[in-house]
Amino acid sequence: MRIVTPRIGRRDALAGLAAAAAAQILPFMPVRAQGELPATPRQTEGPFYPEDWRGDADNDLVLVKGEAAKALGQVLHVEGRVLQVSGRPIAGSAVEIWQCDAHGIYRHSSDEGGSRPRDGGFQGRGRTLTDNGGRYRFRTIRPVAYASRTPHIHFKIAPQAGRALVTQMYVAGEPSNARDGVLNAIRDPRRRDSVIVRLQSAEGIEAGALAGRFDIVVG
Ligand SMILES: [Fe+2]
Repeated sequence: MRIVTPRIGRRDALAGLAAAAAAQILPFMPVRAQGELPATPRQTEGPFYPEDWRGDADNDLVLVKGEAAKALGQVLHVEGRVLQVSGRPIAGSAVEIWQCDAHGIYRHSSDEGGSRPRDGGFQGRGRTLTDNGGRYRFRTIRPVAYASRTPHIHFKIAPQAGRALVTQMYVAGEPSNARDGVLNAIRDPRRRDSVIVRLQSAEGIEAGALAGRFDIVVG
């Protein structure tokens, strides 16, 4: 049997070299394994990371042990999954959230003490662990705007192994999203959209409440 060796012409060889060179030089997106998820953008922790996690700091921020009144504001159920870029869920990861109350005041010594008192019925911060499917859930209030900031909820994800991820969750349709410097520091529109969550009625779960899903990919 005669083996035919394909003859590579000079033109083909040059084209091949050019393609190889272009692959190294051109700023292509990093090569990703098939199905790899884009990591959730990191965002500033801000000045109001909770100083004190003692007492009631569970995943229901609307009810505080020992407080008769529930939190002011519209109840929001946030749930999602914490995932690796491979899509594999991360079990047993700590998930912390913190946000201002319905008056726009954080549970933090540098934000309290002004003319308006903080809402004592709002827990201000909460902490939970992901289950075996990487799932977490919080019952909180729909975030409100304060100062120059569009409504947002701070998140800190601390898996058992690896670096913690600090980010913020935003609300779809908020007109002030377009003017928020922290949100728009995420230049890539697709990455920016990945932290903006569409809220829907959670009427079936709780009267008058909203629900949103925020999946977080730890890169
Ligand atoms: Fe904030």
